[in-house]
Amino acid sequence: MKELSVDVVVRPKEYRIVIEAGLLNNLASELKRNPLGKRYAIITDTIVNPLYAEPLCRSLREAGIPAQVYAFAHGEASKTRQTKEWLENSLLDDGFGRDSAILAVGGGVVGDVAGFVAATYMRGVPFAQVPTTTLAQVDSSIGGKTAVDVPQGKNLIGAFHHPAVVYMDPQTLMSLDERNYFGGLVELVKHGFIADEEFLAFYRQHQQTIVARSGTEYADMMEELMLRNCRIKNEVVRLDEQETNLRKILNYGHTLGHGVEILSDFLLSHGESVAVGIGFAAYLAWRLGFCTRETMEIQMDVLEGLGMPCRIPDSITAEQLIRVMSMDKKAKDGKAEFVLLESVGKVKRAADGDCAQKIAPDVVRAMIDEYKNIG
Ligand SMILES: NC(=O)c1ccc[n+]([C@@H]2O[C@H](COP(=O)([O-])OP(=O)(O)OC[C@H]3O[C@@H](n4cnc5c(N)ncnc54)[C@H](O)[C@@H]3O)[C@@H](O)[C@H]2O)c1
Ligand SMILES: [Zn+2]
Repeated sequence: MKELSVDVVVRPKEYRIVIEAGLLNNLASELKRNPLGKRYAIITDTIVNPLYAEPLCRSLREAGIPAQVYAFAHGEASKTRQTKEWLENSLLDDGFGRDSAILAVGGGVVGDVAGFVAATYMRGVPFAQVPTTTLAQVDSSIGGKTAVDVPQGKNLIGAFHHPAVVYMDPQTLMSLDERNYFGGLVELVKHGFIADEEFLAFYRQHQQTIVARSGTEYADMMEELMLRNCRIKNEVVRLDEQETNLRKILNYGHTLGHGVEILSDFLLSHGESVAVGIGFAAYLAWRLGFCTRETMEIQMDVLEGLGMPCRIPDSITAEQLIRVMSMDKKAKDGKAEFVLLESVGKVKRAADGDCAQKIAPDVVRAMIDEYKNIG
């Protein structure tokens, strides 16, 4: 037998996140200055297409940059291998080569599918995330995760593929419906809860403007808010490479939140369900003596300011939640893992240093019943 050890040089990757209100109107000149390829495939969905993708495509062509739009039906149901295949076949038929680049213009669904296409097309082509939902701007466009759903589960087939650049235009959030606008903000305040008290203070100071989505200071303030938010998410993802599993803290509120989302038959949105999950995690942390009542109340207050109920719907029982949570792939020995806070901005560490706590089902059941009864 012969054996050779091969050193693979992985170059550190760096990319820009450009945040500017109105940026989409200037993207053509930006791409002239900093091209990603010779030709652009703009991947989008049917709602975002007339709003932003078509106008962007026109402005690129007017600037002499070859571009073409590919729009699939909006919604999570399109996040499939079939959509990926349709996109790949379309790009191949239209002669897109290795020198092309992809622009993912839309929410998290578009970003995840287009990013995955970019990861595998011709063994990988550069792509830009151009997120147009709150969730995509605060969460899914940063971190390099791309995926599609399969009948066996969500996000099970995918790849890590970082964008070459992220172009974030907070102005696009003006056309978003209320549920999507506020739902995405739950993930933003979550970042404050788990990692940065000062960020949360900044958010609270500007909460009225953020909720109203208007006012002269809206645009400037949103740029600053998104910038600070990206720094936090990016820092957690970066440190995760040094400390395995730190990324887990991003799951704050998601243990019970996922259960609520599934058991509501997806009538509650992801953001609304995570708000319930955070409300419960805050209650649990207080009852277990990890944090003060004030720490719990600050979180409830912020979430209620976003119009989030935080209460477990009456139709969902503790028993059902325990069952769904124990099926979660992160549950260990039947114990669900909860990220819990010590104070705002600080996650409580378990005895072994882990940033999640394994809580016995009996305790969780009792706490859910209590939480359901507090009004
Ligand atoms: N990759 C990651 O790290 C990551 C993280 C979190 C979530 N996700 C994924 O993100 C997806 C959810 O993303 P989402 O909440 O953005 O959903 P989405 O992409 O379905 O967008 C929500 C709706 O808003 C519409 N829309 C988008 N931008 C608009 C705008 N500016 N104005 C008006 N309408 C607009 C879309 O057409 C869609 O109907 C899920 O599939 C989830 O798995 C990925
Ligand atoms: Zn989430």
